[in-house]
Amino acid sequence: MSSALQNILDILASFGGGRGVPEQEIVRFLLPSFFWALLLYTSANQWLKFRLGRDRIIAIAALIGLVRELFMFSISFSVAKGYVSHESVHPLFPPVEHSLILLSSTLVSYAFCKHFTEIKGLWRYYLYAGVSASTGLYLVTAPTWARFISLHPELKFGAFWGDMLYRITGAVLLLFALIVTATYRRQKGKPPTLLIIGITLLFLDEFLMIFNLYLKEEYKEVFNPIRHNLHIWAVPSFIGIYWNELRRKLSAKEEQIQKIFELNPNVLCLANPEGKVMIANRAVRDVFGLKEDFIRGKSLKEFGLNLKDMLEGLKNQRTLYSITPYRTPEGQLKWLYWRLLQDAEGGNIYINITDITEKKLLEERLAASEQQYRLLFRYASDAILLFDEASESIEDANYASEMLFGYTAEELKAMSILELSAEPEKTKETITRLRKERLRLLSIPKRLFRRKDGSVFAGEVSIGIYTVKNRHKCIVSIRDITRRLKQEERLKQSEQKLRKLTLHLQKVREEERARIAREIHDELGQLLTAVKIEISSLLNRLDNPQALLRPINKTLGLINSTLNTVKRLSMELRPSVLDHLGIVAAMEWYIEEYEERTGIICHFRASPSSIELPQQVSLSLFRVLQEALTNVARHSKATEVEVNLTLKQRGLLMGIRDNGIGIRREEIEAPDSFGILGIKERIRELGGTVMIEGKSGKGTLIMIELPLQDIIKEDSGKVKEILSSGS
Ligand SMILES: Nc1ncnc2c1ncn2[C@@H]1O[C@H](COP(=O)(O)OP(=O)(O)OP(=O)(O)O)[C@@H](O)[C@H]1O
Ligand SMILES: [Mg+2]
Repeated sequence: MSSALQNILDILASFGGGRGVPEQEIVRFLLPSFFWALLLYTSANQWLKFRLGRDRIIAIAALIGLVRELFMFSISFSVAKGYVSHESVHPLFPPVEHSLILLSSTLVSYAFCKHFTEIKGLWRYYLYAGVSASTGLYLVTAPTWARFISLHPELKFGAFWGDMLYRITGAVLLLFALIVTATYRRQKGKPPTLLIIGITLLFLDEFLMIFNLYLKEEYKEVFNPIRHNLHIWAVPSFIGIYWNELRRKLSAKEEQIQKIFELNPNVLCLANPEGKVMIANRAVRDVFGLKEDFIRGKSLKEFGLNLKDMLEGLKNQRTLYSITPYRTPEGQLKWLYWRLLQDAEGGNIYINITDITEKKLLEERLAASEQQYRLLFRYASDAILLFDEASESIEDANYASEMLFGYTAEELKAMSILELSAEPEKTKETITRLRKERLRLLSIPKRLFRRKDGSVFAGEVSIGIYTVKNRHKCIVSIRDITRRLKQEERLKQSEQKLRKLTLHLQKVREEERARIAREIHDELGQLLTAVKIEISSLLNRLDNPQALLRPINKTLGLINSTLNTVKRLSMELRPSVLDHLGIVAAMEWYIEEYEERTGIICHFRASPSSIELPQQVSLSLFRVLQEALTNVARHSKATEVEVNLTLKQRGLLMGIRDNGIGIRREEIEAPDSFGILGIKERIRELGGTVMIEGKSGKGTLIMIELPLQDIIKEDSGKVKEILSSGS
């Protein structure tokens, strides 16, 4: 054997023993104890942190490994020191140590292999096999072991069949784990190389031992140190897996923190104690309008911060705030909110800068708008009062309220809203309604209020409710309408007067018409008849009538037509039929005459065929018919008209419908539509209603309804008769 190889073997033996040198044997157990303890520490730590099942099993395996090494160490130490003899302890420990080695190596390989391969079911069986092999073999071999030793004191324990069983089982299990793990592929990549190295080392230890039995003593001296070293160095491989994992996790975390740092919309930076920026994030671009590199090495003073004052303040408090203006290179004014934190006095400074420009602008705008509304409230011409819905106490009042109620604003603020009301019950109801029905605004056309001097006035009220911090507040606006009410009253009076005047004029006109009609009929008609008779007798007395016959007959014809005209004129002015034969006959006469005159086809229906009405009623109805038909002839371009007069239980109905162009809404409403106004006034005077409706191109309908009660009031036997007969 070359001396170099010999040297290597010597070194391995100094770690792994195997040559029967007691000091070396002690090291052989102390070194793995240390490694197992390290693995125990790491895995237990990981388990406490992440609660992964894997780490717990590895911790158990490491603990078992550690116990085995310490157990062996104490035996070797005691034998080397001569406290006990090798013979006395030898029969006791081999089954214990071998079952512990088998258990710890199966547990470790199980936990790591399962973790990195995800073939869950398979590894479960692997674990069962490992645990049952180590316990089973222990139970079977322990009793026979002592006997074997006493029978063959000259043999090494490796020659015992029980020992062989341990080695073969261990080698098979580890080889299996090694093949599966080394050949396993998954998307993320293959299991860590350190795991394959670790299992290989454990496997080789067991595997070489099987050969060891058949080798000459001198080769065992070579093999044993190698084997023991294999076992010792397998444990750091597993620790290495942890270490690698930890390193990866740490760098991932660092990357995450870096990303969070860069993503922050605030400027985050670190400055040295003199206030020179060392690190800054991307937000520098948005907030300062500068690149990160540009601000590095620059003093915070350049960005508007008075560091000295801040640091002075920092001595008393740990963090400090400051708001400063800053102008970007583009000239935009910004407002910055600084927060500082110092490591320790005189240490590095951490800075967080928020751009509060938007917020500041918003605040300013809000303040301006608040000011505007304040002014609007203060100088509004209506009285505006603000009160709490629950307590009803006034919280604010404007100038107009002081004027209107005669109290000062201070006095008002000490009062309840109900004290201002002359109808407090109604006011209370209004407030309740506002809240219950969740109304935002309520308008009350008239409500009475009381002034400081006791006088009562009427006000028009608008009241709204809103919520501030869970409390309902009401805002009420009151307009004094005393003057308006007076004006309205005056207007109503003058309207009534005008209406009376119109009716009076109508009556006078009717009387006038009747008188003229009578005069024309009586005087002019009779005179003309007399002239006609005279001329006729004159004609009889002539010698040569033939010569004068033509002109005289012509004159007679003229007199006849004049007589007709006189008759019609007097009828139109005051239809005597109306007085003598009633409304139906008068309408019939008028419609016939109208049809002849205008050529418009008329249909007239009256039901019942004779209706007796008070004189005023029938005259009004007749005048309405006259106006309506005149309108049809003048404006409608109609070819047909339908007139209906019906007496019903609920009243007297008169409808006039044409098939003309149709009256427009504006024409009905127009203040200068005097004809239509006349119709409305006449019917209104009788307590009836008028409905006028026009459809473009289809015609116009005028519908009149007179309530019967008013007609009955006038003495009219006929109507009563109809009503009692129920038709
Ligand atoms: N039957 C109808 N068909 C179509 N348009 C009509 C009809 N009746 C009235 N109008 C329209 O309504 C307007 C108002 O009618 P109203 O009778 O009040 O006034 P008027 O006939 O013009 O004048 P007057 O004062 O002499 O009656 C008319 O000018 C006309 O344009
Ligand atoms: Mg008219």
